[in-house]
Formats: sequence, C-alpha cells, structure tokens
Amino acid sequence: MRKRPKKVLVVGAGAREHALVWHLAQSPEVEEVWACPGNPGMAEMARIVGDGGPSAVVDLARREEALVVIGPENPLAEGLADALRAAGVLTVGPGRAGAKLEASKRFAKAVMQELGIPTAASTAVTSPEDWERAIAETPHWPMVAKQSGLAQGKGVRIVWDPDQARALLAEWRRTPEALGEGILWEEYLPGREVSVQVLTNGREYTWLPAAVDHKRLTSDPASPNTGGMGAYAPVPWLDEAMKAAIDAEILQPLIQYIAQRQIDYRGVLYAGLMITDTGPRVLEFNVRFGDPEAEVVLPLIAEDLFPWLVAIAAGEACPSAIRIRPGAAVAVVVASEGYPASPQVGRPVAIRERVPDALLFHAGTSLGPKGLISRGGRVLTAVGLGQDFASARERAYRQVAAIGLEGAQVRSDIASGL
Ligand code: AMP
Ligand code: GLY
Repeated sequence: MRKRPKKVLVVGAGAREHALVWHLAQSPEVEEVWACPGNPGMAEMARIVGDGGPSAVVDLARREEALVVIGPENPLAEGLADALRAAGVLTVGPGRAGAKLEASKRFAKAVMQELGIPTAASTAVTSPEDWERAIAETPHWPMVAKQSGLAQGKGVRIVWDPDQARALLAEWRRTPEALGEGILWEEYLPGREVSVQVLTNGREYTWLPAAVDHKRLTSDPASPNTGGMGAYAPVPWLDEAMKAAIDAEILQPLIQYIAQRQIDYRGVLYAGLMITDTGPRVLEFNVRFGDPEAEVVLPLIAEDLFPWLVAIAAGEACPSAIRIRPGAAVAVVVASEGYPASPQVGRPVAIRERVPDALLFHAGTSLGPKGLISRGGRVLTAVGLGQDFASARERAYRQVAAIGLEGAQVRSDIASGL
C-alpha cells in the first residue's frame, strides 16, 4: 500500500495558493508544506522552491512523497496532473482531459449542449465572415464575446452594439492567440452571479460554501473584467431550492458525464453561474478553486481538508459533507495601478498593521533589497472574518487601509448591502 503523505506541495504563486498553504499548514497531519513557485507571504509557513518547470515539480513531489495541490489552470491544461500521476504522485487537480472544461469554452459549451445543462445560447465564431453574420443575426444587445481559450479572466467582453463588436474583432485580431481557439458569441444573461465549488473524485462530489466574486474593476458594470476584485461567502440569498436546482440541472449531469467518459477528474470543479428569473445558467466551468473565492471559502471550513484531499487524490470516497463555521468572510483585492490592462509593478508595498480577525494573502508581491515590492496585477487579498457580513467587511477594509501601495486600485463596494 502507498504510504500516506505527510507533506504537501502547493503549485502556484497567488493569493488562492497562499490561502491553500495557510489552511494546509494548520493540519496536524502535515509535517511540511512546500510551495512552488510560491510568494513572500507563504514563506512564513512553507518552504519555497523556485519554478524549475513540470519535471522539477514531479521530482520534488516524488522525493518528498508529498501530496500535490495544483492551484492555477495553466499547469492543469498543460497536463501537470497527468505527469504527476504517471510518476505515482497523489495529486489534487484534473488531468488535461478534464481541464478542457476550462481551457476550451467551446468544448465546455458542447458538453453542456449535449447534456442539456442550462447555459447561455451561443454560436462559435472562427472567421471575420462568421463575425459579420453573427452581428447581422443578433436580435438583442448587449451580447457577450468570449475567447474560447485561457485568457486569465480577461477574454470576455460585453458588447453593446455592432460598432463595438467590429472594434473588438479588430482588437483581438491583433493578438493571434486571442482567436486561436475561436470566439463564443453568447446571449447576455441578466441576473446575480454566484461561484459554486465542489470537491470531486470524478464520481461523487461535495459542496464547499458558495461564494460571490466581483469581476469588474469598479462598481461600474461597464468597467473591464478582471480575475476578480473581491469576494464574499457564504451566499445568504442562495436558497436551498436553488441549490437543489444547481445539483439536479448542472452538477449531477456533469459529474455523471465525467464518470461515464472515465475522465480522470480528482480535484475542484467550479461552476460560474448566473441566477436568472428562470433558474441557474452556467457562464463557465473552472477546473480549480476560484481566486478570490478560495480566500473566503477556505477560512470558513471548520475541518482539516488535508485528509479529504488525500482521499480524493487517491480516488477514494468524497466526504458526505464538509463542516462549515458560522459567520462570514469578505475578501478585498488590492490591485496595481493600470490593472488589468497594464499593471505598474516594482513599487514598494507597506503592510503597516495586521488587523485581528483579518487574513492577508499575498499574490503579486516579491521581496526586493529594501523590502516588499509589487510584482503583478493583483498584489494582496485582505480577508475579514466575522460573525456577520458587517464585521467581516469592516475588518477586511481596515486591513486594506493599513496597506501602502502607490496607485492601488481597491473596490469599496465588496459585499455591500448584505
Ligand atoms: P466567464 O469567464 O465566462 O465567467 O465570464 C467572465 C464574466 O463575464 C462573468 O463572470 C460575468 O460577469 C460576465 N459574463 C459572462 N458570460 C455572460 C453572459 N452570458 N451574460 C452576462 N454576463 C456574462
Ligand atoms: N474568480 C474567478 C476565477 O477564479 O476564475
């Protein structure tokens, strides 16, 4: 029998991976946490190893007999989980075949259509002629244009009229990879968005608390899409009847499909949903934890996830339920000036105070000769915890106020009005 791992290696460098490291470092079963390539915030609780590519991750995990948890989508889409499993490493994250649900929006749409999973109506566009035809046949505006391939949350645009549509095509044609996989031209769905994440072994699944992301850069719905500017969990307005509909119409058919096709899917499945007047509709599937959703969901989990992640990685049973703490979590992202189009990096980052009952997860930070500096678009995620949303929110924003970063962009309306 395989030895039970006592170490865990988290792959990734963002706030989501920092939250995973933070959770796993508290496990009484875990002797050591490694992070690759990690970030300075994780260094307090994990051993950081530089990014030596997939073979270095495989070698390290094998040597340390570690469980590997893969945070971001790119290594999943590139087959890192397959390479790890082929080397006998217990791994949380689907193989390349499962990762296609996120890496190709056209594939995900085709699966949804085959299974009758409710989603926005759409057509695939692969040429300028298709685009003109799609514009001519559009009965209502706005529409949503989505690059089919991975685009770091930036490949989706709301398009309000034919001129904007033509300008967008011209813009995307300047970057050939934007069009590589084609574009989905999709009906715009009004409603409220929610992120549902489940742990799955590819046959069974277990809900984690639902969360709400704030995808736009500002409170203006016409502002650019980002990777996510803040989140909250749980979702008080998502009732049991709606959760049952999400199970019956979306999660059960998809997991059944994964099982029937024998797709090796062991990890987290994320459904980005629009809750409309006529029920839930899928906007996208992701094949990993959301970021910033992970930063609010993990602190609400009242039990040690490590043994469950080991079980799922081994293809064993999923938990029947996960114990959740009462109360609320609110995450507020501190982003660089210029994010998402062209983030200004290399600026000093000051953390003047650590607020009690708040967590601070690093993302785009690095350690320069004089201290912490910004390295990416999303720099830090402050998470407030509390008995209710008001106290969680107050703590998150107090932590944000204690951060110094010139030109920082922060939304002031995360979890407002709850
Ligand atoms: P996606 O990456 O597909 O989740 O899209 C990014 C964001 O664009 C979503 O979180 C929504 O805010 C918005 N969006 C995507 N598809 C639609 C749609 N069909 N109707 C309305 N908004 C959408
Ligand atoms: N916050 C959305 C995502 O992780 O894709």
